[in-house]
Amino acid sequence: MPNLPRLHRISQITPDQSVICITGENSLPGWLNLSESEKEYAIKQLQSDEEYVVINSYFKVTYIVKIKDSHPEYRKKEELRKTAFNLRKTIKSGNHGTLVIAGHKDFPGAVSAFTEGLLLSFYSFDKYKTEAGEKDKTAYPPEILLYEGPGDEELKWLLDLTGSVWFIRDLINEPVNHLNAPSLAEEIRKTGEESGFKVEILNKGRIEALKMGGLLAVNRGSVDPPVFCILEWKPEKALNRKPVVLVGKGIVYDTGGLNLKPGDYMENMKGDMAGAAAVTGAMRTIAKAGLPVHVVGLVPATDNRPGGNAYTQGEIITMYNKMTVEVGNTDAEGRLILADAISYASKFKPELIIDVATLTGSAAMTFGIQALAVMGNADRKYFRMLEECGNEVYERTAELPFWDEYGELIKSDIADVRNIGGREAGAITAGKFLERFAEYPLIHIDIAGPGMLKKDDYYRLKEGPGTGARLLSEFLRKYAAGLTKKN
Ligand code: BES
Ligand code: ZN
Ligand code: ZN
Repeated sequence: MPNLPRLHRISQITPDQSVICITGENSLPGWLNLSESEKEYAIKQLQSDEEYVVINSYFKVTYIVKIKDSHPEYRKKEELRKTAFNLRKTIKSGNHGTLVIAGHKDFPGAVSAFTEGLLLSFYSFDKYKTEAGEKDKTAYPPEILLYEGPGDEELKWLLDLTGSVWFIRDLINEPVNHLNAPSLAEEIRKTGEESGFKVEILNKGRIEALKMGGLLAVNRGSVDPPVFCILEWKPEKALNRKPVVLVGKGIVYDTGGLNLKPGDYMENMKGDMAGAAAVTGAMRTIAKAGLPVHVVGLVPATDNRPGGNAYTQGEIITMYNKMTVEVGNTDAEGRLILADAISYASKFKPELIIDVATLTGSAAMTFGIQALAVMGNADRKYFRMLEECGNEVYERTAELPFWDEYGELIKSDIADVRNIGGREAGAITAGKFLERFAEYPLIHIDIAGPGMLKKDDYYRLKEGPGTGARLLSEFLRKYAAGLTKKN
C-alpha cells in the first residue's frame, strides 16, 4: 500500500500556497489571493455552472470548487467527493509539495467530504507493476493542510477511515495466489496488532473440533486449510453490555466448486471476501478511534474449489449448531460459512448481529452497484440508523422484504433446510437461510453488486472499492454516540 497523504489543520493561509477553495456561492472568500482579473474570470466560470475552476499563477495553483445546490443535504457531500475524484489528475500534475483545502463556514462538512473523496481517489494497486513509470499512477502523497475544516477528532476519524479503506482495498485486490485464507488471517492479525483490537485465529484443527460443518464442507475441495478469525474490540469503558457482532464472508476465491461457475462468471471472484474486508476495515477504524463500544468481528475464510474431496450437490452436512443442510448447489457456499459464524455469535449474547457478504447474483441484478441490499429481523431502529448512515457516507442501503413465506422456499425433504431456493427471490432466500442460524437479532447486508467493480465509479475505485467499511464504521460511531447520550 502506498503511503497515505499527511493531513494537518492550519489557521492561516500564506499568499504563495496552492489552495483548493470550496465555496458555496458564486463569490470568493476575502482571503483568496488572486488578482482582480483572475477573480472576475473565476466568478464567470462558476456562474456558467462549471463544477470547478483552475487558476494557474506563477508559483501556485488555485482550484475553486463549487458546492452544488443538491438535495437532500447529504448529496452535497457526495458531489464534493465526486468532484475531488474528477480533479485528482489535475491536482497530481500540479505536483504540489503541500496543498491547502479550505472550507466554507456555512457548510462545515465540505472540507471533510472533499478531502475524503480525494484521499480515496489517490489509492492505486500497482505493487505488481515492475516498471517504475507504471507505478503510482494515481497515488500521490502531498501534505494536505486543512483550513476552516473539521476539528481534531473528525480529522483523525477521516484519516483512520480512509486508511482502513486503502488497507482493505489491497486485501480485496490481491489475487488468490497471493492471498489465501491463512494469509488473509495473518493480514487481519497484523492490522489488529497495529490498530489495537484482539485477534484469535482458529486453525483447521480447532474448526474441526468445533464441528463447523459448513466451513469444513466448503473447504474440502481446497488444498489450503480454512481459518476462522475472531476479532474483538472491547474497551474498558464500553457503554454496551451486549456487543455488536459483525460477520464477514471470507471466500478468498469462489470457483463455484463442483457446480463450477460458467463462462466469465468467475471473473472478479477474488473479491468474494469483500464482506470480510468490510468487517476488518470497520474494526480497524473503531479501534483506532477508541470508540467506547464492545464489538466482535467474525471472519470464516476459505476458497471454494472443485478439487480432491470437494463437497457435492446432494450432500447433507451437519452444521456447527447441529442443524442439517441439504446442499442444493455448491456455489451457494457463502451462506454455509456464514451460517456457522452466525451461530457461533451466540457465544457473545449479542445485541445485534450484522453480516456483510458478496452473497448473491440476485442482489447484484436487483440493485446494480448503487445499493447495498439489507434485510433482517432486527429492531426497526437499527435499520433506520443504517439507512441514515448509508446516506451520510453514500453507501446507501435498500431494504428487501423478509417475510416468513420466503423461508418456505428453502425447505428440504431430507434435511432441516436446503442451501438454495428456486430461481425467484434469490437474495431474500439467502437471507432467510442465514436467519435460521441466528439466535439473536440479525441484519444481513448483501454487497454482491457494489462490493466489486468492473470500472471506477468515481472515488469508488475498481476492483475492490472497499464497500461496507465506511457504512459499518459510521453505524458504530452513531451507535456509540447514542449510548453516550443515554448514560
Ligand atoms: N459469490 C457468489 C455471489 C456473487 C455473484 C457475488 C456475482 C458477486 C457477483 C455466490 O457465492 C454465488 O455464487 N451465489 C449463487 C447462489 C446460487 C447458486 C443459489 C448465485 O447468486 O448465483
Ligand atoms: Zn458461490
Ligand atoms: Zn461466493
